[in-house]
Amino acid sequence: MTVKREREREKMKILVTGGTGLVGTAIKTIISGWTTNKDKEFIFLSSSDLDLRDGEATLALFQYHQPDVILHLAAVVGGLFKNMREKVRMLEENIMINMNVLSVAHACDVNRVISCLSTCIFPDKTSYPIDETMLHDGPPHISNDAYAYAKRMLEVQSRAYQEQYGRDYVCVIPTNIYGPADNFHLGDAHVIPALIHKCFLARNESLPFIVAGSGRPLRQFIYSEDLATLLVWMLDNYIDQKEPLILSVDPNDEVSILYIAHLIAAEFQYENRLVMDISLPDGQYKKTASNARLRSFMPSFVFTPIEEGIKKTVTWFLAHYPTCRK
Ligand SMILES: NC(=O)c1ccc[n+]([C@@H]2O[C@H](COP(=O)([O-])OP(=O)(O)OC[C@H]3O[C@@H](n4cnc5c(N)ncnc54)[C@H](OP(=O)(O)O)[C@@H]3O)[C@@H](O)[C@H]2O)c1
Repeated sequence: MTVKREREREKMKILVTGGTGLVGTAIKTIISGWTTNKDKEFIFLSSSDLDLRDGEATLALFQYHQPDVILHLAAVVGGLFKNMREKVRMLEENIMINMNVLSVAHACDVNRVISCLSTCIFPDKTSYPIDETMLHDGPPHISNDAYAYAKRMLEVQSRAYQEQYGRDYVCVIPTNIYGPADNFHLGDAHVIPALIHKCFLARNESLPFIVAGSGRPLRQFIYSEDLATLLVWMLDNYIDQKEPLILSVDPNDEVSILYIAHLIAAEFQYENRLVMDISLPDGQYKKTASNARLRSFMPSFVFTPIEEGIKKTVTWFLAHYPTCRK
């Protein structure tokens, strides 16, 4: 038995790319609460440890750590406006990162990689609810097509490694994620952190809290620590499954952007100054995703209600405003 096999049997070594991001931080929070589970060792990477666009650096680092599993979260990520403004970067950097992670994992004989896609990469014109089989059924929404095609290729690449080399390379498909340690940048962030930051500034300056678009679009938001719990569960329970897995709250828990804006404004006690700017685009109207496959594994998993998740996120933002990503 090789040294590596010995380690696999005793302790699962998990390399987390994107370990400093929203989801990586949530995984750190989840495992920091463990008191008894010592059968796993996590290594969290950020872009300061290595640039995953650099194949040689990726090879050197994966060889050094020799993980059993890679939880591949690293990506160039952003909200609607960043996706529309930086299409070349969203396409090229994400393709480079994903190409390196999977090909180097294979070269280093890492047999399991769990990679992150997103429900925003599903076809624009489709039937609802969307399920795992529909990923490639039509073009994505024009607003984020560059990011979407890069992510879709990650699924194609994972499946190719399964088919040609028998690797357990699989993808998860989370819906919109939010929570502590998110990116709160006003121009680049996803809708919830951007609205939290906007509302904070509006309140401080006694200005209207302006929300882009009509507020009508619907989204399923998953709290980052719920997603982290599900990803950690997958390490022991989603082995050689081959199919991607949508990680989402129930379709009934889809909410409008307007509802989210009201929740955030209420946290800042600023509801009477909320204004919708309908001159700005809405993005895709809805992307309702089925979590039936997830529910078939975890029928009784309890998700954090959006009202509670927003409260926790606003509390975190206020406590970390000077240093948070913004
Ligand atoms: N946020 C969402 O709403 C959402 C929804 C669905 C799916 N997802 C997917 O979920 C995953 C995690 O997203 P997230 O929101 O946690 O992202 P995030 O907060 O933006 O974090 C991105 C992470 O990737 C790292 N990274 C970026 N470029 C890199 C590079 N060239 N080399 C090495 N590391 C690099 C960053 O490192 P630094 O901190 O050092 O920059 C950071 O740790 C991504 O794959 C994303 O596509 C996100």
